[in-house]
Amino acid sequence: MANVIVIGAQWGDEGKGKITDLLSDSADVVVRYQGGVNAGHTIVVKGQTFKLHLIPSGILYPDTECIIGSGTVIDPQVLITELDQLKELNISTDKLFISQTAHVTMPYHRLIDRAAEERRGNHKIGTTGRGIGPTYADKSERTGIRVLDLMDTQGLRDQLEWTINYKNVILEKLYNLPPLDPQDVIEEYLGYAERLRPYVVDASLKIYDAIQKRRNILFEGAQGTLLDLDHGTYPYVTSSNPVAGGACVGTGLGPTMIDRVIGVAKAYTTRVGEGPFPTELQDECGELLCSRGAEFGTTTGRKRRCGWFDAVIGRYAVRINGMDCLAITKLDVLDELAEIKVCVAYEIDGERCEDFPSSSRRFQQCRPIYKTLPGWQQSTSDCRSWEDLPTQAKDYLKFLAELMKVPIAIVSLGASRDQTIILEDPIHGPKRALLQADGTPVSLVNK
Ligand code: IMP
Repeated sequence: MANVIVIGAQWGDEGKGKITDLLSDSADVVVRYQGGVNAGHTIVVKGQTFKLHLIPSGILYPDTECIIGSGTVIDPQVLITELDQLKELNISTDKLFISQTAHVTMPYHRLIDRAAEERRGNHKIGTTGRGIGPTYADKSERTGIRVLDLMDTQGLRDQLEWTINYKNVILEKLYNLPPLDPQDVIEEYLGYAERLRPYVVDASLKIYDAIQKRRNILFEGAQGTLLDLDHGTYPYVTSSNPVAGGACVGTGLGPTMIDRVIGVAKAYTTRVGEGPFPTELQDECGELLCSRGAEFGTTTGRKRRCGWFDAVIGRYAVRINGMDCLAITKLDVLDELAEIKVCVAYEIDGERCEDFPSSSRRFQQCRPIYKTLPGWQQSTSDCRSWEDLPTQAKDYLKFLAELMKVPIAIVSLGASRDQTIILEDPIHGPKRALLQADGTPVSLVNK
């Protein structure tokens, strides 16, 4: 039995979908613990491609239970569209469960998110415009609507009438937008409530029961460490806690129940939206990474900013998440390059800095200090073992692991499941604790 958290080690879009899909094979339960419809992964079923924003991809395994935890925010309209899409494909959603204490994204959240972004002008965050920030803001302000409120018809009428009138003042007076009709919204959401009612549970209890029965639980993080509200590049972050610690808060589970944390990082770095990005490449090489890596957002279709691998944020992600091992994805995207750079430290005001600075202003001033490694200039997409990899690719991976002091357990070389090299069993293999005295992961010694 192992309870495993999978987190993004960069700014999201690291390829967590593929890694959770691989690991879901041995999971009995997959739990999403934060975020909302700002996340997204593309699924191909029976030759048809579609996108899931809320439902974990574990739903494709008939025996796997999928739970949308209390730390998430749920847009019922999007969730129902996902349920309908799955039904059309004859994929059962009988094993989907929704936490009764998750918060609900309302139409005014989406409107305020977009209007506030416009108002911010040069200071905009580059949000997905899906109402995520305002939904979490209401949760903190204690004016949010929870899934269990949605299930209480009369209570919802009372609560929404007051809330919508209050939000209308903001929409009209602050943003010059037309007001919402409370009755229209109430009827719309009562309709959603009936569709979602069969799925609603006490998710914390359900997860605890599963643990008591010694079932394997996979906690699936959305976004990434550097987008974490508390530990990311604030204010250019999302409004939830994608870090491993968020899995406990976002599910109602104690930290002693977690066995392992697996990080996922791309072999280079990408970021969507605004905010500092020291290793960003605004040249042909950045374009090459973007086109070879098909770096366009699943949710908004926006072009992702691309850059070299940043081991400073990598080390930070290892620390903040207590990461046991790492999956490196999209190594094949680097195949054509003659030289590959890795940011080993930053320079700020003429001084070398090895650690991620918490201040966004300071982070903005960081200049990357690079180490240049030779590329391998051959295709790796068909490599299926460590031995198949070109020497330069092996050296690149070893260099990353040594810099971040974490074992690399998985290397991904393409979208399909078989384009994967498993170096260590990510669930039962060596833990981060198994480091040599100089900090080198034991698992690297014989590589
Ligand atoms: P929000 O989560 O829509 O409020 O957006 C806040 C920031 O997080 C923006 O920079 C978004 O581009 C970024 N973001 C949110 N979700 C994702 C994701 O799933 N992948 C990558 N970036 C994301």
